[in-house]
Amino acid sequence: MKALVCNNFGDVNTLSYQEMPDPNAGSDDVLVQVRAAGVVFTDILLAEGKYQTKPALPFILGTEISGDVVAVGSNVTRFKPGDRVMSLAMNFGAFAEKIALPGWLPTRLPPNISYESGAAMMSSTATAQHALRQRADMQVGETLVVTGAAGATGSGAIQVGKAIGARVIAVCSSDEKAAFAKSQGADETINYTKEDLKKAIKERTGGRGADVVFDTVGGDVFGACARAMATNGRLLVVGFASGNLPILPVNLTLVKVYSVIGVHWLTFVRQQPELHAKNMEELLVWVEQGIINPAIDSVVPLSEGVAALKRLSSRRAMGKVVIKP
Ligand SMILES: NC(=O)c1ccc[n+]([C@@H]2O[C@H](COP(=O)([O-])OP(=O)(O)OC[C@H]3O[C@@H](n4cnc5c(N)ncnc54)[C@H](OP(=O)(O)O)[C@@H]3O)[C@@H](O)[C@H]2O)c1
Repeated sequence: MKALVCNNFGDVNTLSYQEMPDPNAGSDDVLVQVRAAGVVFTDILLAEGKYQTKPALPFILGTEISGDVVAVGSNVTRFKPGDRVMSLAMNFGAFAEKIALPGWLPTRLPPNISYESGAAMMSSTATAQHALRQRADMQVGETLVVTGAAGATGSGAIQVGKAIGARVIAVCSSDEKAAFAKSQGADETINYTKEDLKKAIKERTGGRGADVVFDTVGGDVFGACARAMATNGRLLVVGFASGNLPILPVNLTLVKVYSVIGVHWLTFVRQQPELHAKNMEELLVWVEQGIINPAIDSVVPLSEGVAALKRLSSRRAMGKVVIKP
């Protein structure tokens, strides 16, 4: 089969579109024909060898798919060939024509949801849902600040925030991205290249600060948010797309009485599969009701997968970039 392969850690330009052996599906696995795969910033970090986990080389990139089950192992009763599914690819390998997944992992993809939407809502929207539900315990009427709000995970957080009943303030680096964030449901926006971010969050919250911050950017953006938290606020550490790991003077959490909370969706799916399955049920209800509709930036053929990754690294993507084998 064809796949986008990392043979050596480095720039995404060094990735190779090449033949790879078909995956081996064991008795507990399902074999899936991949129809769409979502691109996440994490893919870039993985390719560069900068992610928390370094897979053994060579490996096929990609962490989320939708597709059709083509074969099931003898112990798998949840699925049969022909079933449409969407799934996290826990051990990577999504940017390929086929993938083997543990039988307990995929979620059934309803017939009225496209493969592109299925792939797009996995790690981005589902991460946002896990972060806001389980990690922040976000309440109706609270104020949610989303950074990187026009990105895949950020736009997912806007939609999930609105689905929960939050007032959402989207933080972006351009007016174009701010307008996009508004189209995703944000109540207000901040262009942090034009406004002082800490001051702007305070202004838009009547001086209280944010109840919840969903930060995908890190660096100075995190630093500004850490100084604009409400009492009993929750500052969610989701990602570091800026490339800068922020350092937090912890006295801020004492003085302002707020919590800093790490989010790692992959760990959540691995360690709490039943709760993950419940989240997916809720997510699909929201999709059925039209409350959640993942924004697709572009759909790119697998053979041009490097260009798909570059759309993220060049900071141009708004919503989700999807790869089609
Ligand atoms: N913790 C988890 O479980 C989890 C799950 C999924 C993703 N993530 C992480 O979340 C982050 C965002 O992922 P994503 O897939 O949503 O990425 P994305 O679609 O590319 O969005 C990232 C956003 O970050 C902002 N940004 C700031 N500085 C940047 C830079 N130097 N280069 C690129 N973008 C920059 C951009 O918004 P502005 O231009 O408006 O600033 C961009 O829209 C990544 O760090 C990823 O690893 C974490």
